[in-house]
Amino acid sequence: MSDVGRAVSLLQAGELVVIPTETVYGLAADALNPEAVRRIFIAKGRPTNHPLIVHVAGPGAAEALAETGDPRFAALARAFWPGPLAMVLPKKPSVPDEVTGGHPTVALRCPDHPLSLRLLESGLCLAAPSANRFTRLSPTQVADLDPELLAFVGLVLDGGPCRVGIESTVLDLSGGPARVLRPGFVSREMIEAALGEVVEEGPSATPSPGQHPVHYAPRTPLILVPELGDRPGIGFGKPGAGQIPLPRDPAGYAQGLYHALHELDSLGLSEIAIESPPTDEAWKAVWDRLRRASG
Ligand code: TXA
Ligand code: MG
Repeated sequence: MSDVGRAVSLLQAGELVVIPTETVYGLAADALNPEAVRRIFIAKGRPTNHPLIVHVAGPGAAEALAETGDPRFAALARAFWPGPLAMVLPKKPSVPDEVTGGHPTVALRCPDHPLSLRLLESGLCLAAPSANRFTRLSPTQVADLDPELLAFVGLVLDGGPCRVGIESTVLDLSGGPARVLRPGFVSREMIEAALGEVVEEGPSATPSPGQHPVHYAPRTPLILVPELGDRPGIGFGKPGAGQIPLPRDPAGYAQGLYHALHELDSLGLSEIAIESPPTDEAWKAVWDRLRRASG
């Protein structure tokens, strides 16, 4: 049996499988099996009121899980799916409360990775948070998976390094104006262009569940500095000892960021210095992750 075939069988039996996506690796369970979804929270050590993103094969599969009649959903799915955009919609009764943390909405996305798409074509809908322990760094390659988490997992599907490298954009479409709850590779400007209307950004009046201020953090304290000098950390220039260079373009930087942090975190440093990237719009999602990681 192929790895994808084995993954389908394990997921149908209620087990957890680590899956590749274009953003980060996910810790997946059958979204319609409450017992399996509960295992995700145990494996991650994550509070059960933090809702999970459900991964679907496309807009058609989304209909069984959420109210998809909003024309903005169809327009954005056409523009960005498969891709790094999760959309929050009113949920249907089919989605267990375990997935949504008891909230009346559900976040859906169609990941742009051939292995995960083949999995989802089986008809499964997969609840999958990033495959890291709660508050730790998301893995963007199999080598960065936490052994403690792997103890709970039936199979790891290796899909190589993730192309995007940071988590998806989360967009609230559950009522009122569209609002970006978590910035990502699909920017507010791209969404506005696709919808032809203004999109809001930032926390809504009802705070987004699961938007924990310290998140995605390495164990080693992280500091942002104007210039790296000879400190160990991440910079833009020619690297010295204990230094990892990342490209000065936001997409390339995002792709390499978590792996660089994983590497530096394993060196037992007293702190990791990060040379501050530019502050313009294009770097917004990167800055969001750096702020969280530096607590
Ligand atoms: O790129 C990604 O989205 C990755 C890959 C595996 O797909 N997944 C991921 O999941 O980052 P997680 O669980 O680490 O982050 C889920 C985010 C949280 O910020 C949470 O607040 C938001 O999605 N979210 C999920 N359901 C929501 C809902 N019903 N309402 C508001 N926000 C929601
Ligand atoms: Mg996460």
